[in-house]
Amino acid sequence: MSLFDQIKGFIFDVDGVITDTARFHSQAWHAIADQVGTPWSDDLANRLRGIDRMESLEIILQAGGKASAYTKAQKEELATKKNEHYKELIAGLTPDDILPGIREFLTDLKEHGYQMSIASASHNAPAVLHSLGLDEFFPKIVDPGTLSQGKPEPEIFLKAAAILDLEPRQCVGIEDAVAGIEAIDAAGELSIGIGDKEALRAATMVFPSTSQLSLPNISKQLLGVA
Ligand code: BG6
Ligand code: MG
Repeated sequence: MSLFDQIKGFIFDVDGVITDTARFHSQAWHAIADQVGTPWSDDLANRLRGIDRMESLEIILQAGGKASAYTKAQKEELATKKNEHYKELIAGLTPDDILPGIREFLTDLKEHGYQMSIASASHNAPAVLHSLGLDEFFPKIVDPGTLSQGKPEPEIFLKAAAILDLEPRQCVGIEDAVAGIEAIDAAGELSIGIGDKEALRAATMVFPSTSQLSLPNISKQLLGVA
């Protein structure tokens, strides 16, 4: 039996995998960084990928040497401001914003009887999936409000496997974030990175673009690691 034969479920991150909303999170955090006086950089933007809202704010404040400059209430205000900005940026999302190959991949998975779930740290993910017209593929998703630990801890990917009634080793996780790949690996699932091969080198396999995500391509890569 090949590694591929044991796979029964696919667990997707949303921002940066299903649609390019990672850039909207970045844009909204960039504005907050400007407000609190933290210099923005690509490195900082990448460190925020996959990280939940309050933890992202803490990273931005720390990067600017302002870790203890804000009260809890002020931090809540900053996080709310970022979220309002982000919601404005995603207001115009339509099915045209689905990343290349994703709808075809989801359709193929469904036709082949695979189970599918979502492991996004974003409280906005259900609204994003709705705007993209992809709800039908994901009746069972993890509510990030139920988590005690964010990525890179494995909890979200373990919960996603559990709601599909699968063992972690029966699941593939798909992520664009380093923290996300770490979470999938720690959960004992098979990890697929979307993006830079070097940055995502901990993944079982990496595709530079979602357009390469397909069952034949995954199966081919797995023959190489089996
Ligand atoms: C993740 C994004 O999917 O969700 C992060 O990669 C974001 O950038 C996190 O901070 C939480 O999102 P939200 O919408 O709940 O603030
Ligand atoms: Mg992501």
